[in-house]
Amino acid sequence: MSSFLERYEELHPNSRDLYERAKKFLPDGVTHDNRRQLPFPIYVGRALGSKKWDVDRNEYIDYVVGHGALLLGHSRPEIVAAVSNQMTKGTHYGASSALEMHWASWVNRLVPSAEKVRFFSSGTEATLMAIRLARAYTGKDKLLRFEDHFDGWHDYTCHVHMEPGKAPEAPGVPAASLSTVTIVPQNDATLVDKTLSSGEFAALILEPTGPSWGLVPIKDGFLADLREITRRHNVVLIFDEVITGFRVAVGGAQEFYNVKPDLTTLGKCVAGGLPGAAVAGRADIMAMIEFRDDERWNSTRRIAHPGTFNANPLSAAAGVTGLQILSSGKEQETANALGARLRKRLNDVLDRLGIPGCVYGDFSMFKFFVTRECSQRGCDRSACTVTAEDIRKAGARTGGLSAEAARNFRWGMLNAGIDFMGSRGGMLSSAHTEEDIDRTIAAFEEVLGELQREGLLK
Ligand SMILES: Cc1ncc(COP(=O)(O)O)c(C=O)c1O
Repeated sequence: MSSFLERYEELHPNSRDLYERAKKFLPDGVTHDNRRQLPFPIYVGRALGSKKWDVDRNEYIDYVVGHGALLLGHSRPEIVAAVSNQMTKGTHYGASSALEMHWASWVNRLVPSAEKVRFFSSGTEATLMAIRLARAYTGKDKLLRFEDHFDGWHDYTCHVHMEPGKAPEAPGVPAASLSTVTIVPQNDATLVDKTLSSGEFAALILEPTGPSWGLVPIKDGFLADLREITRRHNVVLIFDEVITGFRVAVGGAQEFYNVKPDLTTLGKCVAGGLPGAAVAGRADIMAMIEFRDDERWNSTRRIAHPGTFNANPLSAAAGVTGLQILSSGKEQETANALGARLRKRLNDVLDRLGIPGCVYGDFSMFKFFVTRECSQRGCDRSACTVTAEDIRKAGARTGGLSAEAARNFRWGMLNAGIDFMGSRGGMLSSAHTEEDIDRTIAAFEEVLGELQREGLLK
């Protein structure tokens, strides 16, 4: 089974060389945990539409799409034009610009909960501010989260190590900060109600399609239950739509499921694929950032918010153009339809090869496979029966494959020119094509067939 690895090494000498040099300067040689890869990652030098090319001139169909930021594909001409044009007019004014007003007005127009908007550079900053707003507004400290939901990596949302009978731990994070965060399983409205009834909670934050964009699907009606429960307990409901915003529907998951949160965090697509993020929501909560004609308020109650690159002109130009394009809903329709087709055809491969498990997911996103029999392969959100327990048993990071199978799957797919998010799944853009799907299916069938012949799919 070393052939996938041998071929990977043959195909990527320049990537290997860059990695050897990068290790001297970058921890682990990389700049994002998910870009780590044995024995070295690919180094990409160019991208366009649904494709990217590495420094060894290998071509890939890209299902990472900028960690979800590029719903419009790589270097969409309108975005390139907007950013290039803005470059010539200045990249930072250290002052307000009309662009930020236009950008905020697009968010306000498209996102149902967005009465007021504040911009940031990353989704992590956005969730940090949303939580701080909720705490300042309610005067309470506690935050409720759901297991495995990813809402950035600051002290209140980072991965926490939990062991029965022990206090939660996260290296570098004060125990006092962690003690303000309670984590419960998703999909149990009664438990949420009971937890919030203590009266100590400022906010509940969640990814509205489930952890890591739907690893465990949200139960039908759960979001509406959360809306009712949080309102009854005066807890601020925060939808973290950093991934789902503008992707699952023009107005995000809140529009699709018709549930309006108090605050929404946005990132990725909000800035047309450039660095940028936002908190949007109820004007009375957002007013915690506003100055008043009251010195006491300003110095003791108001949340201070500077930030050098907030609404920087390049991100704002890309954001305005991107949201304008996304506002028609056509891009989402295209990517969602391609997503449905890809999931169906990937499942057909599993059927043909007699491999248990499924490819599931929704909208323009897909997840691999939990290794349990699934009688409803290809079903959509409400019918999907994947549970947190299935994921735990299967191993969230390897999609149910053994570590060895997952590594070989990854090398095999990269050798065949397909860049999935490891063996966890991926996302599509509106730039993907039927031909991309045909090539992906052929590669998937070949690589899985090889793993099967080698006895690695158990
Ligand atoms: C749902 C969600 N929230 C927050 C974040 C953090 O955003 P960023 O990586 O821009 O800090 C991410 C990043 O992937 C995310 O998926």
